[in-house]
Amino acid sequence: MKRLVVCLMLGIGTMISVYAQSSTDMEKKITELMNQMTLEEKVAMCHAQSKFSSPGVPRLGIPEIWMSDGPHGVRGEINWDNWGYADWTNDYITAFPALTCLAATFNPELSYDYGVALGEEARYRKKDILLGPGVNIYRTPLNGRNFEYMGEDPYLASVMVVPYIKGVQTNGVAACVKHYVLNNQEQWRGHISVNVSDRALHEIYLPAFKSAVQEAGVWSIMGAYNKFRGQHTTHHELLNKILKEDWEFDGVVVSDWGSAHDTKEAAIYGLDIEMGSWTNGLTSSIDLAYDNYYLATPFLKMLKEGEISEDVLDDKVRRILRLMLRTNMSENRAMGRMNNSKHSDVARSVAADGIVLLKNENDFFPIKPDAELTIAVIGENATRSMTVGGGSSELKAKYEISPLEGIQKRYAKANILHSLGYASGPSAYGREIPSELDADSLVNEALELAAKADIVLFVGGLNKNHYQDCEGGDRKHYKLPFGQDELIEKLVKVNSNLGVVLVSGNAVEMPWLSQVEGLIQSWYNGSEAGNALADILSGDVTPSGKLPYSYPVKLKDNGAHYYGELSYPGDSIEQYYKEDLLVGYRWHDTKKFKPQFAFGYGLSYTSFKMSDFKLNNKQYNQDEIIKVTCKVTNTGDVAGAEVVQVYVGKPKSKIKRSVKELKGFNKIYLEAGESKTVTIEIPVEKLKFYDETVSDWSLEQGNYVIYIGNASDNILNKQKINIK
Ligand code: BGC
Repeated sequence: MKRLVVCLMLGIGTMISVYAQSSTDMEKKITELMNQMTLEEKVAMCHAQSKFSSPGVPRLGIPEIWMSDGPHGVRGEINWDNWGYADWTNDYITAFPALTCLAATFNPELSYDYGVALGEEARYRKKDILLGPGVNIYRTPLNGRNFEYMGEDPYLASVMVVPYIKGVQTNGVAACVKHYVLNNQEQWRGHISVNVSDRALHEIYLPAFKSAVQEAGVWSIMGAYNKFRGQHTTHHELLNKILKEDWEFDGVVVSDWGSAHDTKEAAIYGLDIEMGSWTNGLTSSIDLAYDNYYLATPFLKMLKEGEISEDVLDDKVRRILRLMLRTNMSENRAMGRMNNSKHSDVARSVAADGIVLLKNENDFFPIKPDAELTIAVIGENATRSMTVGGGSSELKAKYEISPLEGIQKRYAKANILHSLGYASGPSAYGREIPSELDADSLVNEALELAAKADIVLFVGGLNKNHYQDCEGGDRKHYKLPFGQDELIEKLVKVNSNLGVVLVSGNAVEMPWLSQVEGLIQSWYNGSEAGNALADILSGDVTPSGKLPYSYPVKLKDNGAHYYGELSYPGDSIEQYYKEDLLVGYRWHDTKKFKPQFAFGYGLSYTSFKMSDFKLNNKQYNQDEIIKVTCKVTNTGDVAGAEVVQVYVGKPKSKIKRSVKELKGFNKIYLEAGESKTVTIEIPVEKLKFYDETVSDWSLEQGNYVIYIGNASDNILNKQKINIK
């Protein structure tokens, strides 16, 4: 265990060094500190003192805690008491790709690099808690915050979230996994009460949080705005019983900003630090607002009157001090690093690794950069800043290479034309401001350019405006907005040599799909967005991203929407997750709704062959490991990467199941002509289901099927096994 030295100011200027060598020492140290604290000082630590900080105890040398959003970079400095930006000049950062992109890499090593680089910047900016990553499950393509999360599959999200957290925390900065839990839509997020089975809760919505706690050892978790079965999730048995007791989480539960609603509930049901409340839940600030927080004066009063036991407070303070001994009170804490070229490289690698090639007729992509072509780049997303907007994840990027700039730089010999084609209006949180530009003129100009060009690249999608991919509201429909569908169809008529690049964090309907030659799914890729896109367009990098969520043909084909409004978005008070376990591909597979593009799907510029599929056994016990091996050969002309995906299903089962579930994957890089053997290990234990009859995990005996492929809808080999 790392030695820990904490220098504390005790009394008037007495300096002591405290050495803690183990968690026992750490706990001892915490006890020593707590013994010197007054009730008032302890209570003060349980709530905010400004928009993004909570107080320490100056008398004892205990510092403040400083937090920042999250999750794609360190947010610009916000004013002490209001949401305005502080307009500092030293808070420009690297904008990393959105978490949808990170998930699409299927590359845990890159997730670690991402976490390290982001944590370095957070540390440099003197942050103790970085408010991210987000692992709410992608349930509906309408959720305005899907771009901040890691897709629809609990296993993928679990595998990808762990290294991110470890990377951030190596810097002595706590990650804060959010939003615990069931915050799967923005509409009515502050009060909607989610009703979902225990099984779906444990098998779909909780696993990524559980991995964050048990595998990554995350130091803080953020409660959510919504309710679960009538009670706010920020003060709920979900925290005490599941998170703190069953999973043995020893960190801090931070509220979402304004998600606490009651003193006694917040105190008793596991909230440790209350942030972002107004006063008594009203909507405007008053003097001494922070003293009026639920976990401030009202809490102190209840403690003094004996209505809440002091043990409840002590547990919170112990957790907070533990987080501090791991971060701002730890010895030899790294100094952090400001944005630098290494961080840019990480951002670019993640972006290029996560971009997904969805369609490529007649080898439309890559477009060779050495030719003297005329390329018409049409669409607002070619130039629109995507680090601005979207809500709390908005960033003040040191720079942001737009798709157009990336293309212009890489295609120096080409004649690049650009026209907006459509316009969406400026970014404004919580409001839609229509564009003042004339829509018909924009279309006409785009058609003129397209007619002159050898190649048309349409760069559109969603953006980070209200009702797009943005916090505080869901999308109103599944279509592309701002007349893009019509525009694409018109463009194809004047020039059929057209490829589409979608920049979004959500699936969209694609009525024009059969008419376009190529389709790339790009994401909100941050500072290096344009360079990474040019890497893929030019073939400098072979695309290897895989979809982290399914693209239904139409909205009704998605499980959450199939069952109507009570399932999504609810009746404004209650909501019932009627698709239950069948989220994403589980729904498409089991109910046989063929998706437009399936979870795990993504093309390459090269081709791969998977062969020699083997298992280490045919029969397994509960404590054994299923080892799946297969050979992957790059059979094409260029280097590239393939993701071997292993799904498991149980065809004859006593319980309801989806056809198959992802249980392992491995991304493998291969030179042209190269072969490698890949082994994927699945502990039999991981095949357990959440058994509601015993409120615990159970393993069903009998025959299972192992499915091996490179997409959830492209299974190349099936093997039967038996579990004893
Ligand atoms: C968001 C959180 C965010 C917090 C602070 C809330 O509205 O839901 O994700 O961390 O604000 O900005």
